[in-house]
Amino acid sequence: MPDALALYDAMRANADAAYAAWRNPERPRIDVAIDQSSISNGALRTRAAIERVVSARNAAIDLGRVHGYGIQWLHPLVQVTFPDGATVLYGPVTPADAEAIVDEASGRWGAAASLRIGMVTGERDGVPSLRDHPFFALEPRERRLLRNLGLTDPESLEHYIARDGYRASARMLGRHSTEDQIRTVMNDAGLTGRGGANFPTGVKWNFLFGAAGEDHYLVCNADEGDPGAWVNRVVMEGDPHLLIEGMLIGAFGTRSKQGYIYLRDEYPLAIARMEQAIAQAEAAGLLGEDILGTGLTFRLRVIRGAGAYVCGEETGLLSSIQDSRGMPRVKPPFPAQRGVFDKPSNVNNVESYANAPLILMHGSDWYRQYGTERATGTKIFSFSGDIARVGFMELPFGVPLAKVLEVCGGMVGGELKAIQSGGPLGSLLPPQSLPKLILQGDSFSPWDAIMGGGGIVFCNDKTSVLVLAEMFAAFVEEESCGRCTTCHGGNQRQTEILRRIIDGRGRREDEPNLKLIDRTLQFSNCVHGQFSPKITRNLLQHFHADYEAALRGEDPSLTMAGLYRVVVTNQYDPALAEAVAICPVDAFRGPAGNRSVDDAACIRCGACIDVAPKAVGKQAKARTVALN
Ligand SMILES: Cc1cc2nc3c(=O)[nH]c(=O)nc-3n(C[C@H](O)[C@H](O)[C@H](O)COP(=O)(O)O)c2cc1C
Ligand code: SF4
Ligand code: SF4
Repeated sequence: MPDALALYDAMRANADAAYAAWRNPERPRIDVAIDQSSISNGALRTRAAIERVVSARNAAIDLGRVHGYGIQWLHPLVQVTFPDGATVLYGPVTPADAEAIVDEASGRWGAAASLRIGMVTGERDGVPSLRDHPFFALEPRERRLLRNLGLTDPESLEHYIARDGYRASARMLGRHSTEDQIRTVMNDAGLTGRGGANFPTGVKWNFLFGAAGEDHYLVCNADEGDPGAWVNRVVMEGDPHLLIEGMLIGAFGTRSKQGYIYLRDEYPLAIARMEQAIAQAEAAGLLGEDILGTGLTFRLRVIRGAGAYVCGEETGLLSSIQDSRGMPRVKPPFPAQRGVFDKPSNVNNVESYANAPLILMHGSDWYRQYGTERATGTKIFSFSGDIARVGFMELPFGVPLAKVLEVCGGMVGGELKAIQSGGPLGSLLPPQSLPKLILQGDSFSPWDAIMGGGGIVFCNDKTSVLVLAEMFAAFVEEESCGRCTTCHGGNQRQTEILRRIIDGRGRREDEPNLKLIDRTLQFSNCVHGQFSPKITRNLLQHFHADYEAALRGEDPSLTMAGLYRVVVTNQYDPALAEAVAICPVDAFRGPAGNRSVDDAACIRCGACIDVAPKAVGKQAKARTVALN
C-alpha cells in the first residue's frame, strides 16, 4: 500500500515548484482581486481594462487573480508581483487607472504611486508594509484562517498545498492517527461553533462518532443569510480547500463517508470555487475514494441553497438537502441521532470546519495562544454600516469593539446610534454598550444581545431604530416557515404594529402588545421563532426614548413614512423636471414654477430626492391621528 505521506510529499514537491514560480515570476504579473465584493465594486471592468492595455501594448506582463485582503472600501484591488517576489497592492483601481498600473508593472515606478496601499510581500522604498495599515492593527501579525488571502490564487490546489495545505490531513492518515485523537485535539483547542450558538465542535463530533450505524453524514452550513455577514463567503471564495480539508478531518474523526456543503444560491462565485476545488481534490486523490491510498472514502458535494433564510437552521437545512421543504423540525431527535436521510449527521458552520486543519497542524496550545479562556482562537468578522472602512478581519476573541470601530476609521455621517449584531435574529445595542463590549459572545449577554456569526453593523444617528426594527421584523415574518402559529402569526402582528408606529399611528397599547407577542413567540418550535422578537425587545429596552418620541409623532431621522412629507424646495432647479418624470406614482402636481407633491399620493420611494436633491426634500409632519 502506498504511504500517504510519501504520496503527499510527491504532490508537495510539484506544488512548491509551481508556487515558487508564481511568487517569483519571470516577468511581472498583475493580479486583480476577484471575489464577490470586488466584482460588485467593478473588479471585472478593471480587469478587462488592464487586459486591453496589456494586449494593445503587447506588454511582457502576465495576468492572474487573487482574493481581496479585507480592505473592501478600497475595492477594486489590484496587485503587481515583480520578479524579485515583491508584491505591491493598489486600490481603488478603476478602468481609468489601467494605463498607470501597466506602466508601473512595466518598470515605470511611480506611475501608479497614488494608488499604492502597501507591500503584500517584499520591500520597495517608501511603500509601507500592508500589515502596518491601521485597519489591520488588531489582527494577529500572522493571519490564520485568512493566511492565504492575497498570497495565493484561490483557484489553485497547488498554491494551497505549497502553503502547507492538506499536510495536517496527510499526517493524520500517514501516521495512522485514531479518530479519538482527532476529536480530542479539537476539544482541547476549545473550538466552538462559529454559526452563532458557540457549541463545542469536538463534542458535536463525539456525538456523531458515537451514533449508531456506519452511515454517518457530515454537513456544512454555508447558508450565511444574515445581512451584514459575509464571513463564510470569504473562506469559500478565498481558500476553498481549507473548508474541504476541515471537512475531511471531521469526516475521519466521525467516521463519515459522505459530506454536503449546503451553500446559499446567492453566492455564485463561492459555489463555482467550491465545486472546482472539490473536483481538483478528487483528481489529486485527496478526496473521494481511497484517499491518499489509505482506503478511506469521503465524498463531498455542494448543494445549492433553496433561497430561504430559515434553511440556515440546521434541521431545516437537512430537510432541504433531501429536497423536502426547508422547515425546521422539533428537536430531539438531534441531527446526530437522526439527520439527513434519517442517518446520524453533524452540522457545522464553514468557519468551524475551516479551523480544523490549523488546529491539527499546530496543536491545541498554539490555537489557544489567541482569544480568551472562554473563547479560544480567532474569528473572522465583517464590519459595515456608517463607518469609514468597511471590510473583514480575523480577530482574536476578546478584542474590545470600541477599538474595532477605531480601526474601521470611526463613524461617518453622524454619531453612533446603534450596533446591530447577529443579523435579523440578533440584537440592537445602544452606544453606551460600546465601551463594555468585547468580541466574545457572553460580553453581549448583559444587553440581552448576541454576537452571532460575525457580522457587525454600526449605524449612525441618521438611522431610525424603529425603521430598522420594522425592517428586521418584516424579514423574520417573511422567512418564517409557517409551521408554528406563534411564529407566523406572532411575527405578522409584530410587523403590523411597528409598521403602524412608523406610519405615525402608534397607540399606547402597542408596547404591552409587543411584549405579549415576544412572550408568545417563545413557545415556537425553533430558534427562528424564539429569537424573532429580540430586536424589537432591544428597541424597547435600549431605545425607549426613540420609541416614545415616535409615538408622539417625532422623527428626527425623517425616515418614518408617516412622519414626514416630500416637498419641493427649489422650483427653479433644472433637475426638478427629472424628479417629476421619475416619480412612479405621478405625485407631483401643478405646472413648472409651481410644483408641489401630493402627500396622499406619494409613496416615499425617495427617487425624486435621489435625482434632484437640491430641488426636493423632506419635511417633518405631525401625527394625523391623536395618541390614545
Ligand atoms: C433561522 C436560522 C438561520 C440560521 N442560519 C445559519 C447560517 O446561515 N449558518 C450557520 O452556520 N448557522 C445558522 N444557524 C444556526 C444553525 O442552526 C446551527 O446552529 C449551526 O449551523 C451549527 O454549526 P456550528 O456549531 O458550527 O456553529 C441558523 C439558525 C437559525 C434558527
Ligand atoms: S419557529 Fe418559525 S421558522 Fe421555526 S419551525 Fe416554527 S414557524 Fe418555522
Ligand atoms: S418620494 Fe417617490 S412617490 Fe414621493 S414624490 Fe418622490 S418620487 Fe414620487
